[in-house]
Amino acid sequence: MDIFDKCLQFNDAKEAEAVGLYPFFIPIEKNMGNRVIVDGKELVMIGSNNYLGLSHDPRVKEAAIKAIEDYGTSCSGSRFLNGTLSLHEELEHRLADFAGKEAAAVFSTGYQTNLGSISALVGKNDHIFTDRYNHASIMDGIFYASGFNKGSVHVHRYHHNNMDNLEKRLKSVPHDAPKIIVSDGVFSMEGDIVNLPRLKSLADQYNARVYLDEAHAIGTIGRTGKGTEEHYNVKDNVDIVMCTFSKSFGSLGGFVAGDKDVIHYIKHFSRSLIFSASLPPSAIAAVMKSLEILQTEPEHVQRLQQIGDRMLGEFKKMGFNVGTAQTPIIPLIIGDFQKTLYFWKALFVGGVYTNPVFPPAVPPDRTLLRTSYMAILTDEDLDYVLEVIYREAKKLNIITS
Ligand SMILES: Cc1ncc(COP(=O)(O)O)c(C=O)c1O
Repeated sequence: MDIFDKCLQFNDAKEAEAVGLYPFFIPIEKNMGNRVIVDGKELVMIGSNNYLGLSHDPRVKEAAIKAIEDYGTSCSGSRFLNGTLSLHEELEHRLADFAGKEAAAVFSTGYQTNLGSISALVGKNDHIFTDRYNHASIMDGIFYASGFNKGSVHVHRYHHNNMDNLEKRLKSVPHDAPKIIVSDGVFSMEGDIVNLPRLKSLADQYNARVYLDEAHAIGTIGRTGKGTEEHYNVKDNVDIVMCTFSKSFGSLGGFVAGDKDVIHYIKHFSRSLIFSASLPPSAIAAVMKSLEILQTEPEHVQRLQQIGDRMLGEFKKMGFNVGTAQTPIIPLIIGDFQKTLYFWKALFVGGVYTNPVFPPAVPPDRTLLRTSYMAILTDEDLDYVLEVIYREAKKLNIITS
């Protein structure tokens, strides 16, 4: 047996590609924000996480270019050693302020932020409570923590957003055992919002800390786009706020914010921060400009929320199963692998870019098309999307109305 045998025997993706039904790694030739060119053809983009459209804002692009001129294209080292610029520290101060926390730490990707922060915080004999639909980077942070601690981390996966189930699991652990509850603020596939007030009251009752991944919440929910706490109009419900820059911030990277001693600890025990090169200057400058725009121009958040409400209403009217969606992330749940693939392809040919989602990202009976909206989509774009989706879904008997 050769170790590469499994690679030669992996044919599923090649077979799908041969019949034109392979939906992954599709190269985008040009990206105009609301529209993209693929294989010479223009599509309306409803498959991006660029929620506020800021990766295409001229001011954000200009800030990134200026940072390259001032600092070069790379930091060529980790934050720990030669890779910390004054720009990183300035961004950390601004983000801590934005999140209402004492301190923040900036990582090179959102994935590394969860990986490094969770594995730094959770160790031997600790208990971590995680929603079953949490993002893979949270699960990987837990695996990583377990690996380094030889399996001694106690992992409790509770039913999605089910606070009774969370309580049952919290109850089963001694009151004085160290505990942390980790949840997405907005769930990346379902587009629904964590029941934060109830989660926080359970955390208080059972002596647990709260870690919230706001990757899809900042910029999308809350009156000014500040995320889940603002959505519920509550304060200090979260001990650690985490977010990525690859979505509403139009860049790349991520941060955690919390008490200064906790952030200081994460900075010294997070392997994905210490052993990886730091966020490049252009990415930092793009985040800083995006943050400024988010804080001073509420109209982008308002437009995004108005689009999300409209699309959710229209899809419900058409008879789609949109699950528990409440945000501008709207899954069209098909629940059948082949139908989902054919629907994705029909929309693609029809000029609409969506993302098909299959197991293990979702359970087998929840295969879906993930649609997500941006503030920069025009009414004309949305009318077009609705027309194509309605037409193709009817043809495939996904909706019958
Ligand atoms: C909830 C959540 N957390 C973390 C991440 C990781 O962020 P990034 O892709 O910026 O590394 C993602 C990315 O999709 C996400 O959806």
